[in-house]
Amino acid sequence: MSGRFLLAQISDTHIRADDHGEAAAKLKKAMAQAAQYRADAILLTGDLVNDERTEEYEALARALLDPPAPVYLMPGNHDERTRLRFFFPSHSYLPHSGHLSYAIEEFPVRVVVVDQIVPGETHGLLTAAGAEWLDCTLAAAPNKPTIVALHHPPFLTHDLLFDNIGLRDADLLAGVIAKHRQVIRIICGHHHRVAFGQIAHAPVVIAPSTSWVYGIAMYPEQPIAPRTDEQTGWMLHAWTGAGGCASHFIGL
Ligand SMILES: [Fe+2]
Repeated sequence: MSGRFLLAQISDTHIRADDHGEAAAKLKKAMAQAAQYRADAILLTGDLVNDERTEEYEALARALLDPPAPVYLMPGNHDERTRLRFFFPSHSYLPHSGHLSYAIEEFPVRVVVVDQIVPGETHGLLTAAGAEWLDCTLAAAPNKPTIVALHHPPFLTHDLLFDNIGLRDADLLAGVIAKHRQVIRIICGHHHRVAFGQIAHAPVVIAPSTSWVYGIAMYPEQPIAPRTDEQTGWMLHAWTGAGGCASHFIGL
């Protein structure tokens, strides 16, 4: 296996129309940093906007003009599939109907994006149909290193809120991943802080948000989802054929 692949994972941008462009500026700064690292692709792993509003998607589209590398989008629980399709017609990899799941094939590492949002809900769900799609998609290229991207973390972080609103049916995901040894990483967002876990043989990385960081609530007396002053940022996943994959936190 030869080659090199640098994936900039930018998550939970939560673009707003009423923040004087603050969230959009952070996205642009993350993309500028990704350009310095010569990222081959930029994947936004959901919660692209804050309230599914038209002006927010328009602001996101403006922020993504003239990116330094191809940009790929996927929905989080703050997104709406129809609007995503509508406002990004040039993103031809997005399916025209149903879930916005797809595979990025043009790099030495395959990226399989799984849309597992539930409209109107905060948690995620991998349906039986979604699991079957993922199984078939992974089976199509068993020898190519693959990153699987989700929005919701598929493992328990021991945070009282986020364990309630993570990916339901994570066991279903684990059963599929276990069959496909070429999966070298599972990447996700949603938690607005960096954390690591494992599903079957695959390390899981939760990317931070570019907009704000949540603290951890492990005990009932602690505030739920407190915003902290920890550093926001994004993840740079760097792969080479000889050296495998390393995932770096890049602070904004
Ligand atoms: Fe978010």
